[in-house]
Amino acid sequence: MKKQTFYITTPIYYPSDKLHIGHAYTTVAADAIARYKKLTGYDVYFLTGSDEHGQKIERSAAAKGQTPQEYVDPVVAGFKNLWDKLDVRYDDFIRTTEERHKQTVQVFFEQLQQHGDIYKAAYAGRYCTPCETFFTEHQLAAGKCPDCDREVELLQEESYFFRMSKYADRWLKFVAENPAFIQPVSRRNEMVSFVKQGLEDLCISRTTFDWGIKVPFDPRHVVYVWVDALTNYISALGYGTADNQLYRRYWPADVHLVGKDIMRFHAIIWPIMLMALDLPLPKQILGHGWLLLESGKMSKSKGNVVDPLVLLDKYGVDAVRYYLLRELPFAADGYYSETTMAQRINNDLANDYGNLLSRTVAMLIKYQQGVLKKPQPAGALDQALINLAGETRRVVAADMAKLEISTTLATIWQLVGRANKYLEETAPWALAKDATQAERLNTVLYNVLEVMRLVTVMITPFMPNTPAKVWEQLGLTAHPALHTWESLQWGQLPPGLVVQKGAVLFPRIDLSEISG
Ligand code: MSP
Repeated sequence: MKKQTFYITTPIYYPSDKLHIGHAYTTVAADAIARYKKLTGYDVYFLTGSDEHGQKIERSAAAKGQTPQEYVDPVVAGFKNLWDKLDVRYDDFIRTTEERHKQTVQVFFEQLQQHGDIYKAAYAGRYCTPCETFFTEHQLAAGKCPDCDREVELLQEESYFFRMSKYADRWLKFVAENPAFIQPVSRRNEMVSFVKQGLEDLCISRTTFDWGIKVPFDPRHVVYVWVDALTNYISALGYGTADNQLYRRYWPADVHLVGKDIMRFHAIIWPIMLMALDLPLPKQILGHGWLLLESGKMSKSKGNVVDPLVLLDKYGVDAVRYYLLRELPFAADGYYSETTMAQRINNDLANDYGNLLSRTVAMLIKYQQGVLKKPQPAGALDQALINLAGETRRVVAADMAKLEISTTLATIWQLVGRANKYLEETAPWALAKDATQAERLNTVLYNVLEVMRLVTVMITPFMPNTPAKVWEQLGLTAHPALHTWESLQWGQLPPGLVVQKGAVLFPRIDLSEISG
């Protein structure tokens, strides 16, 4: 049977600077979703990349006495290094300076023109270069950029415009008929009220700088960087080129995962450009909140940017991924601090999960020479644990259908918590003192280790390095069939299994050594 496809994207990041922990959040979340979909049987395509054109990059390069390309190349190499270190497995990385991308952008622009949706006019208005966004006078906040609060510039130049206003009603109708299109609901409401206030035509070319893709029929103009950037979602699939197999296979995207600050571009401008060409629209735009510091936004000028590479060296990739994915509820902002991160690692990973494994493995070695035998039929206490395990699989599937990663991890950790409680209730260390309880002791250890296996399968998309270490301790390395989503059925651990002691999965962090 042909697998169902699933195409997920991240925003393409500006290589104006190194990425921080907030950017890492988006990409790790997309990676976790992509891995989950693969694990549950989908044909997945996961795209990320870099947004390399525009005035901001041109100026940053000039300030360093470099060409824009010289400037961006090492920064983009840094992005790829970060994704490798975070174990992000994308299927493609699109750079907007690549020939394949330029080709699609030019085709796309030309198609809009042929469709009669582009006209030339004089532009006079404000522009925020850090945000690469046009604003009208009344959109400004006290004369400054309403998004980033920085100074805006007055632009006066001849430009091409896209007839966006023409599509406002069609967009509103589409959004009303497709409630899943913009998520969460709070962001959908924001977008709808923005469009209801009246949509203006969009300025889509610039002439006063050079670093961009040329408008095909008027090379004095470069394509507005957001039109260039949004097109990455189809240029990476070969849209408008001879080799458009991927486009035919994966478009429309299932999810564009983006931060709340760039919702307007993804939920309004991009779908309207696609509508104009009668192309299928992405199925969902999912806008997540921001990772903030107690002191506010992370920014280079404030000098409070958190470098994920430092955290990765200190705590390891799975701990950092777990923290990011568990801490931030999708719909709202979350606060980062190294102390809360260390507390989560200590409580959830070191104590609840890691310790459950090491205690149980140690007992099996001590009491049964490390060999697991067939369990007895379940009693009431056992059955409660077994039922919760089955329920957990169902709830995880329901949570992930809504892409609620943080809730998913909380659901899985309820089962971990229940297994810890079960150990306390059944007290295998006491059973071991009574020779007549040998079978009961084996059953208890079997049940806990089976929970450990189920939990470990379920965390694989979120913490991809931990499972191999657990399989080794459980003696399951050579049983790949027991690592799969399909194996999430109770009682699969084979009798005769031999466990072995391994290194501590998540060493405890000394909180007194953390400053923030
Ligand atoms: N280049 C554009 C995107 C073009 S997509 C066609 C851009 N780049 S960016 O590098 O500035 O930001 C990329 C993403 O990082 C955005 O989704 C933004 O919301 C996200 N984040 C930036 N800071 C963040 C936090 N502090 N927390 C969470 N996400 C953050 O915009």
